[in-house]
Amino acid sequence: MAAEVWDQLARAVLTDLDESHLLRHRSLITPINATHVLFEGREYVNFASNNYLGLTHHPQVIAATERALRRFGAGSAASPLITGYCPPHAAAEQHVARWKQAAAAVLLPSGYQANHAAVQTFAALAVKSGRRARFLLDKLCHASLIDAVRGSAMPFRIFPHNHLPKLERLLADAKTAELQVVVTESIFSMDGDAADLVGLAKLKMTHPFALLLDEAHATGVYGPAGSGLAAEMGLRELVDVAVITCSKALGCGGGIVCGSHAFCNSLVNLARAYIYSTHLPPAMAAAADAAITVMENEPLPRQRLNQIVRHVRSELAKGRWQVIAGSSPIVPLVVGSETAAFAAAQSLLSRGLLTFPIRPPTVPRGTSRLRITLSSGHTDDEIERLICSLRDAHKHA
Ligand SMILES: Cc1ncc(COP(=O)(O)O)c(C=O)c1O
Repeated sequence: MAAEVWDQLARAVLTDLDESHLLRHRSLITPINATHVLFEGREYVNFASNNYLGLTHHPQVIAATERALRRFGAGSAASPLITGYCPPHAAAEQHVARWKQAAAAVLLPSGYQANHAAVQTFAALAVKSGRRARFLLDKLCHASLIDAVRGSAMPFRIFPHNHLPKLERLLADAKTAELQVVVTESIFSMDGDAADLVGLAKLKMTHPFALLLDEAHATGVYGPAGSGLAAEMGLRELVDVAVITCSKALGCGGGIVCGSHAFCNSLVNLARAYIYSTHLPPAMAAAADAAITVMENEPLPRQRLNQIVRHVRSELAKGRWQVIAGSSPIVPLVVGSETAAFAAAQSLLSRGLLTFPIRPPTVPRGTSRLRITLSSGHTDDEIERLICSLRDAHKHA
């Protein structure tokens, strides 16, 4: 009987979402290679994934994963504090720490969990030491950071996206908070623009705070061997705790928190998102390790990606699309309504190009968009097809 009530509620909510063009469906996608997929029986060029360097299908990444699968099995079968922490996890953590020039790194099953664990560690340290602390969070931070901060024991304030004067006022007006943690992303996932790291570095000179920086979309794209935007700008020291995901440019899965030895050891002891979850399968740790080796040894894909990004962004700037400015491979074309975003995606689909409309609640109402993502594996021909198709799509919109 109770279940029937919940079914009625579910049907009403789903109808409501459908009528507002916000109902979501999963699309069944079969990858063919790093940049092509089968979708509803037809082949498409994939302009919707975060596979910036095509590493999902890199032979060395696949070979390392296969070796680890045979040697260590398909899963970890326990949390890291029981029997889930295996040699590939330890090796990947050491490699990440060297590559990020961090004192230590901790691997987790996903980037979502890594952000929760990092936030939970700050909160637990504050509570356990009886210090009054708060988070200051950029409004456009990823849901994993927002959820983590909301669910933490620490108070928080949200500042408008990249609005450093407002952030400065908040920092100065700490009132009861003795310690403040600024939470932001180096490249924002839905807008593709960058945090003002130089401005944050200046602020840090006058207002002490700890910086938690999510480098999910900067990893593999910026910095020496793809080690991120802070490294690219010579601002590694600015970042107290960095989070990266292995699920985007690294082409596999998992999340990583980088920080001091004391912070990482505290995470292992205090962060519920780490302690109470079965560890990342060892083969995924081996895949992440191999992906970083590839990035260290092969700079050309990153250079090609950046060249493609510059070309696409400059061509689109000549047209009438409203492109959010930036230098990242996330190129959002804001169209406004959900139906317009859907129509734009359909128009590209009819030309063999796969993109997805991004709608509320992922982005604010009225800013629905086509989120185009570029990969070093896209051919020149595919890039030209994208540009021409977008030109045509706009003409007929
Ligand atoms: C900025 C950002 N942080 C964290 C995550 C979560 O990473 P994961 O997909 O590995 O859980 C994502 C993506 O999903 C993201 O875009």
